[in-house]
Amino acid sequence: MVLPIGLQAQQPSSKQWFKDKDLTLTGVYYYPEHWDESQWNRDFKKMHELGFEFTHFAEFAWAQLEPSEGKYDFAWLDRAVALAAKHDLKVVLCTSTATPPVWLSRKYPEILLRQEDGTVLDHGARQHASFASPLYRELSYKMIERLAEHYGNDARVIGWQLDNEPAVQFDYNPKAEMAFRDFLRNKYDNSIKALNDAWGTSFWSEVYTTFDEITLPKTRQMFMNHHQILDYRRFAAGVTNDFLNEQSLLIKKYAKNQWVTTNYIPNYDEGHIGGSKELDFVSYTRYMVYGDNEGIGRRGYRVGNPLRIAFANDFFRPIQGTYGVMELQPGQVNWGSINPQPLPGAVRLWLWSVFAGGSDFVCTYRYRQPLYGTEQYHYGIVGTDGVTVTPGGREYQEFISEVKMLRKEFSPRDKKPKDYVDRTTAILFNHENAWSIDRQKQNATWSTMGHIEKYYRTLKSFGAPVDFITEEKDFSQYPVLIAPAYQLADKDLVERWTNYVQNGGNLVLTCRTAQKDRFGRLFAAPFGSLINNLTGNSMDFYDLLLPKDPGVVEMAGKKYTWNTWGEILIPGKDSQVWATYAQEFYDGKPAVTFRKLGKGTITYIGVDSTDGSLEADILKKLYTTLNIPVMDLPYGVTMEYRNGFAIVLNYSDEPYEFTLPTGAKVLIGSAVIPTAGVLVYKI
Ligand code: GAL
Repeated sequence: MVLPIGLQAQQPSSKQWFKDKDLTLTGVYYYPEHWDESQWNRDFKKMHELGFEFTHFAEFAWAQLEPSEGKYDFAWLDRAVALAAKHDLKVVLCTSTATPPVWLSRKYPEILLRQEDGTVLDHGARQHASFASPLYRELSYKMIERLAEHYGNDARVIGWQLDNEPAVQFDYNPKAEMAFRDFLRNKYDNSIKALNDAWGTSFWSEVYTTFDEITLPKTRQMFMNHHQILDYRRFAAGVTNDFLNEQSLLIKKYAKNQWVTTNYIPNYDEGHIGGSKELDFVSYTRYMVYGDNEGIGRRGYRVGNPLRIAFANDFFRPIQGTYGVMELQPGQVNWGSINPQPLPGAVRLWLWSVFAGGSDFVCTYRYRQPLYGTEQYHYGIVGTDGVTVTPGGREYQEFISEVKMLRKEFSPRDKKPKDYVDRTTAILFNHENAWSIDRQKQNATWSTMGHIEKYYRTLKSFGAPVDFITEEKDFSQYPVLIAPAYQLADKDLVERWTNYVQNGGNLVLTCRTAQKDRFGRLFAAPFGSLINNLTGNSMDFYDLLLPKDPGVVEMAGKKYTWNTWGEILIPGKDSQVWATYAQEFYDGKPAVTFRKLGKGTITYIGVDSTDGSLEADILKKLYTTLNIPVMDLPYGVTMEYRNGFAIVLNYSDEPYEFTLPTGAKVLIGSAVIPTAGVLVYKI
């Protein structure tokens, strides 16, 4: 299944491709194969005039690149690349594995993806091939290798995007099942006993006698073994990651000074983002207006959720130190439940939101509105006539000229004020916690990502830089580390947390943490006790309430409601009790504790409040205790720094007056920031 490439990944720093002085590059998708070739020159000329610096080709063009098996045609793409270069546009190429040509699916139907209910996907759309099919990989690699050979040493091509929004497939293709068994044999060292122990198969006669009896778990079958599902999800994420790794290695055999990335959908708990180590960095796609999208106020659906881009920035950037945004909508989309026009200014606001997180490029989807096919109603930078610039196109033009103006004033990427850097906070994230909790929620109204967002939202109101990090990272560089609902843990992790605190770190752990081992089993010890020596507490019990009759927690005389999860704590001798339950038969018992340990502190928040206000007040109290100065930005206003610039964004439905620091030089906007407005000043 794995192609013998035999190459070591190079790990050049992103500085090799992206320069501080450029701040960010802006590009746009173009599909030469959709348009009459006589229009290409006109289109690239206009693209350049609007200020775009790169374009993006060949994403779904396998049928044009390899019209019949083994017969390649790159002549049309050569002409497109040359014309783009004539208009000063660099090119990002794509591997087009999301759309195999019809000859491939008809000749080799075994490559088709099979869904859990047995439906086999077919030609006529996209993303219907199985990443677990060795034959599909082989055919993909042949095409990719030819493409990389042809363009790898072409200075007009700056980078590569693999596939399109590669997802974890949950594919029931027979080849996936065989590969799953191999994955398990390998993981459990060929010991079926070890697998039976890990999956707890003594329960309900689920025991296996050989690996060959194991199938891909039917996730929709009631009560399916969730330990097995946990392993299946690990396997499935691994299949996608391997496919991308192998594509990347293949391209790097030929690529000279070209980067390789892919365009992930930021589905954080899907579990594969960050897992393909051979990518040079990760990129994401983001759509903001598509119907009901949690914006602020009556017209909020035209602006979008204020933290949707910020969260993606803070999740993607720490993975490899930089990131790009591969797709950002220029106007209406075609696939939402309702597809409204964005508010005038919103497209530019999103562009600045991407920039604020420290990105190296942003690319918009797409240049021209298609005249046929699934995405007919999707806006472009120009409309259906191919020449009239859309309102979103104008906002791109404005953003690009503003960036060019800022380039004259840039400083190094890391020039940021001390008070901002001092409040840097990490959120420890492992998608496996979400996988595990979501199969056994215990309270249908619990949301793992919603729980994490309550902390994130508060940190953004503090004006704090946030990094989502995984356990691979060194915790010690972060003054505060929050591990929300970190359900799956082991002694090693608890020891690392303890050392972090002992050495001066400030750790915040929240409810549901360390209750299970990495297989999803409870420990043969008092419930939740793995962290007792760290938190100083023990847990008496936990309670779950109905949303219509929430419980109350009290802190410093203020009351907060909760219902999804509440742990009733028994505090240790040196624990300070910060909040207590104010109802029920555990009235007065602790819900939140804090203690000093070694040179650091540990805060334990055993409850998940209804609206996040308790979490906000606890973090305020903690940062005050730690003497970390924070801001108090209203929801909808965010502020970040990069390259010596402060970027303040207003997603709220009213103007926001920002207090400029003395000496600030305003470069874009003004201190009163209107809805969808942007303020940039130099520090
Ligand atoms: C993205 C996808 C693109 C295009 C776009 C339309 O999810 O990656 O190929 O379909 O949606 O909004």
